[in-house]
Amino acid sequence: MLYNKKIILGITGGIAAYKCAHLVRLLVKQGAEVKVILTPAAKEFITPQTLSVLSKNEVIIDFFDANFNWNNHVHLAEWADVMLIAPLTANTLAKMASGLCDNVLMATYLSAKSKCIVAPAMDLDMYQHPSVKHNLDILKTNGNLIIPAETGELASGLTGEGRMAEPENIINFLLDFFKQSLPLNGNTALINAGPTYEAIDPVRFIGNRSSGKMGIAIAESLADKGAEVILVLGPSSEKVKNSAIKIVHVESADQMYEAMLSNYNNKDVVVCSAAVADYKPARVSDKKIKKKDGDLNLELIKTKDILSELGKLKKKQCLVGFALETENVLEYAAEKLKNKNLDVIIANSASEKGAGFGVDTNKITIIDKHNKISNFELKSKQEVALDIVNYLIDLIK
Ligand code: CTP
Repeated sequence: MLYNKKIILGITGGIAAYKCAHLVRLLVKQGAEVKVILTPAAKEFITPQTLSVLSKNEVIIDFFDANFNWNNHVHLAEWADVMLIAPLTANTLAKMASGLCDNVLMATYLSAKSKCIVAPAMDLDMYQHPSVKHNLDILKTNGNLIIPAETGELASGLTGEGRMAEPENIINFLLDFFKQSLPLNGNTALINAGPTYEAIDPVRFIGNRSSGKMGIAIAESLADKGAEVILVLGPSSEKVKNSAIKIVHVESADQMYEAMLSNYNNKDVVVCSAAVADYKPARVSDKKIKKKDGDLNLELIKTKDILSELGKLKKKQCLVGFALETENVLEYAAEKLKNKNLDVIIANSASEKGAGFGVDTNKITIIDKHNKISNFELKSKQEVALDIVNYLIDLIK
C-alpha cells in the first residue's frame, strides 16, 4: 500500500498526460496523498479541474496562481516523500539534466530532497536520440529513478519504444520503491500472540486473559517496517489490519508449538508474546462432562515450553521472549532470558497500572543478553510495539 505516502505528481506536456487521471485515481486508492503540478503545456492535454477533483487537492501550474505563493515550491518539496514526473517529455528531461528553472515543477524538482522518479514518454526516434539518452544518464547519475518507456503504438502512428509506462506499472514501481526503502525489507519474522485454550471436554477449556493485542501490534509494526511476517495466533477477537501478514490460527499450546516449530527455520526475528498455558488437562473427555454429586478434580500435566524449545534449536534467529511478572520483575525476566537462551526479553509487570493483559497500554523494560537494561514509559501498545521493533532493528542491522 501507499498508505499515507505524500506524492507530488508532476505532469508535463505530452499526450500521455491523459492517462494521469487514471494514475491519480490509483494513487489515491492506494491511500497516497497526491499534489499535482502541471507544466503550462500539460494543461493542453488534461484539465486541472479533473486532476483537482481526483487528487482532492488544488492543482498547481503557475508561480503566480491565486492559490499559490511563489515560494511555496520549497514547502511542497519538503512535504513530499517522493516526486513522480509522468509523463516526462524530452523538453522537461533536458531542463532537469541542466538545472534550468522556468516553471513551478522545475523549481520544486530543484528544491526536493526526496527521490524523484520519472516516466519518460516521447516518440520513437526522440526516445532513441543520443541527447535524450545522455540526459537520462545524467538524471540517473544525479540519483533519479527512471521507469523505462514501454513499447507499443505511439501517438504519431509509429510503433516502438516510447509510450509512458502504464499507470498500473507506475504504481508497482512505487510500491517496490517504498518497500525497498524499509529497514526490514528482505527480513522474515515469526511471532506468536494471544492466549491458548486447553480443552477439558467439547465445551469447556482452561484459558487466560491475554487479548493478543501486544503481539498483533508487534506483527503489524514488523510488517510496516518491511518484514515478511507469519503470526501464529491463539484464540483472539482482535483484528489484524495488515493483510500482508500471514496468520496461522491455533487454539491449544500443542498446536502453537507445532506451528512455531514448523515455521522457525531461516527466520531473522522470532518473538514469543503468546500467553501459552503452562498446564493442560491430562485427559480430554470426548463427551461433555456431566455434573455429579461431589467435587471434580482435574489432573493437569505440563505443556511444552515453546520458547525454551526454540532457544535450544536457535541458529541465526534473534529470539525474543516476554516475561509477565507480578513481583521481582527484572530478576525473573533475566532468569528466563538466560534459561531459555534468548537474545532479548521484554519484561512487564501485571501489577503495574496500565500494563499487562486486557488493557490498551503497556510499560516495558527490555533486557538484552549482555544484561543491558532499557526502560520505556507507559504508552499505547502500538507505540510500545514500535519501540520494540526499532530496538530489534538496531540489534540485527
Ligand atoms: N512460553 C512458551 N511456552 C510455554 C510458556 C511460556 O513459549 N509453555 C513463553 C512465553 O510466550 C513468553 C515466555 O515463555 O515469551 C515467558 O512466559 P511466562 O509465562 O512469563 O513464563 P513461564 O516460562 O511460563 O514461567 P512462569 O509462568 O513460572 O513465570
